[in-house]
Amino acid sequence: MDTTAMTIVGLNGSPRGAESRTRRLVQAVLDGAKERGAQTSLIDVCDLDIEYCTGCSVCYATGECIHDDDFGWVFDTMLDADGIVMGSPNYINGPTAQIKALIDRMADAIHCQQFTGKYGCAVATAGGSQADRVAAYLNEVLTILGATSVGAVDAVLGSDASSLPAAELQAHALGARLADAIITKEVIPEQDAIHRAMRERMQWLVRAHKDDWAHQYEVWEQKGWDALP
Ligand SMILES: Cc1cc2nc3c(=O)[nH]c(=O)nc-3n(C[C@H](O)[C@H](O)[C@H](O)COP(=O)(O)O)c2cc1C
Repeated sequence: MDTTAMTIVGLNGSPRGAESRTRRLVQAVLDGAKERGAQTSLIDVCDLDIEYCTGCSVCYATGECIHDDDFGWVFDTMLDADGIVMGSPNYINGPTAQIKALIDRMADAIHCQQFTGKYGCAVATAGGSQADRVAAYLNEVLTILGATSVGAVDAVLGSDASSLPAAELQAHALGARLADAIITKEVIPEQDAIHRAMRERMQWLVRAHKDDWAHQYEVWEQKGWDALP
């Protein structure tokens, strides 16, 4: 691919702005990808107005959310990107509420497997433990949206800032790996199998709700249904 056309967006779920160690890792991933020619941008999710999903299912039927907030342009930025970097600190063994609010707004995107063909990765930091659990969750979200994850950097940093540079080096290398996967359209067989199983499940679900979920049915009509058993 023309590497100058490659775009990667990073999402930071920490509310601590410039103080955020997670943000440093997201930025390091983007810097690594930039050296491979990617155009990059970073979004601080906590600065945005992203309402909670109400579970109303209106998006399933219409493709539109009932909320008029920042979710629309953030989601469009993700849809336009070739690569997505998800980052969050560990907040009580999970991602922050702010990035979870964003994730919960993407049930329609999961049903439609809207991130098919994209690549991603995750970074997470923690004070004492379980950064790996948060990063694994963020990567799982990317995978069930249809994207291929190329890995994670999870850093347990304590209160000592001196361990951050080593994690930043890892994140920089992960960014290069992400860009290379986009350029070569890398296929990771285990994830390919998950993607096929998700497509099958989601197509079955959308067909079963054809009368109520008109938008999702229409999306699959346009994408083309797989020949399912
Ligand atoms: C509300 C809150 C909950 C946290 N929960 C955990 C936790 O369960 N386990 C842990 O190891 N660190 C926990 N931490 C520490 C953060 O994960 C850690 O300091 C992280 O690096 C902060 O990232 P940031 O600098 O990007 O904001 C918590 C911090 C806060 C403010």
